[in-house]
Amino acid sequence: MIKVNTNNNLVEIDYKKYQKDVDRVHKIIHEKKGPGNDYLGWLEWPINYDKEEVKRILEAASYVRENFDILVVCGIGGSYLGARAAIEAIRGLYSDDKLEIVYLGQTLSPTYTNQVLNYLRGKKYAINVISKSGTTTETSIAFRLVKEMLEHEIGKEAAAKAIFATTDKEKGALKTLASSNGYETFVLPSDIGGRYSVLTAVGLFPLACAGINIKEMLAGAKKAKKQLSEKKIEKNPAYLYAVNRDYLYRHGKSVELFVLYEPQFTQIGEWLKQLFGESEGKEHKGLFPASVTNSTDLHSLGQFIQEGTPLLFETIIYVEEPTEDVLIPHDVDNLDELNYLATKPLSFVNEKAYLGTLDAHVKEGNVPNLVISIERMDAYHLGYLFYFFMKVCAMSAYLLDVNPFNQPGVEVYKQNMFKLLGKPRV
Ligand code: PA5
Repeated sequence: MIKVNTNNNLVEIDYKKYQKDVDRVHKIIHEKKGPGNDYLGWLEWPINYDKEEVKRILEAASYVRENFDILVVCGIGGSYLGARAAIEAIRGLYSDDKLEIVYLGQTLSPTYTNQVLNYLRGKKYAINVISKSGTTTETSIAFRLVKEMLEHEIGKEAAAKAIFATTDKEKGALKTLASSNGYETFVLPSDIGGRYSVLTAVGLFPLACAGINIKEMLAGAKKAKKQLSEKKIEKNPAYLYAVNRDYLYRHGKSVELFVLYEPQFTQIGEWLKQLFGESEGKEHKGLFPASVTNSTDLHSLGQFIQEGTPLLFETIIYVEEPTEDVLIPHDVDNLDELNYLATKPLSFVNEKAYLGTLDAHVKEGNVPNLVISIERMDAYHLGYLFYFFMKVCAMSAYLLDVNPFNQPGVEVYKQNMFKLLGKPRV
């Protein structure tokens, strides 16, 4: 399903030496013995997921697709990035699907928020508010605004039928609000943290509304769960990749640059940045995760990657078959001198850009490159890919000896902000 090519890592790794550490970490992951082990619910999730809830998600999604033109997804961080990454990756950026997806609550920008509200006004929209804690400031403010607007437009009772809440099973302000207003609710299990939650209702409900086959996605994740349970580094692509990035980190690289070759995959880069950044970046350790979308960024960051400070390695996520393709036409005048490409698909040119860049960065730029390739980007393969990266992340963070599932550093800015805002203590 996934191939990890390490031929261009520019280092010699003794996998036999690494295997001992990988065995130790494999054991603490699978026996749930490491720090943060209460948050390993995602590990068995592709088998253990709540089948009844998935049924309810599918019914609610059909209802949304039949009765509304827009779904507003209101959340931030792990309660937003996965759904957006998947929807854009599968549907593309200019989808002709009947249901439009709009994002709110992922920013405190007054301009963005107001523009989205103005855009929604008078249209037929449903809302999926997503927050595990139920108290995240961005999400709560945006939801208060859009809920009030909807209630004002169609009345409280009808609005309650257009609002779906995804939150903790029992606790939190959003749970209380949803119960008191009678919203349909979906659960973010208490043993799965935000950035590991894309395969729960957090991702599944917006995805199902977007017309994406969530059962296929779960089936892809199930396949990954099975294949990536292997202990041996060379037999487990997740561990092979984790060991390579760990080795590069320990040998002078401080940045991992994720490289995508389709604008519709840019948000996968965002999801990866959160997953690895929040999981590994603590105790003054961890690779800084960054991302580019080529060939766009070859015309901006390409120069730095080729010849700048040698602080990074690249991880290319290459999808072999594009979702759509277009043929370059023949032109009788050939004034643009492109006839040497006439009748070739654009995917052919994109592929050569990828291969040419790989060669340039590795051979002349001396930049290590890891290549993760996957056949195509459908629900099944993306389910596999999500699970793959979560497994890599758990292995990588434990190899660094940090807790993959907490994010203590995120609280610091929040406390300052609350102090400045005069938030009452509870
Ligand atoms: O990964 C995480 O835990 C975080 O990024 C959260 O998902 C994010 O802060 C949003 O939190 P919540 O779902 O509680 O609103």
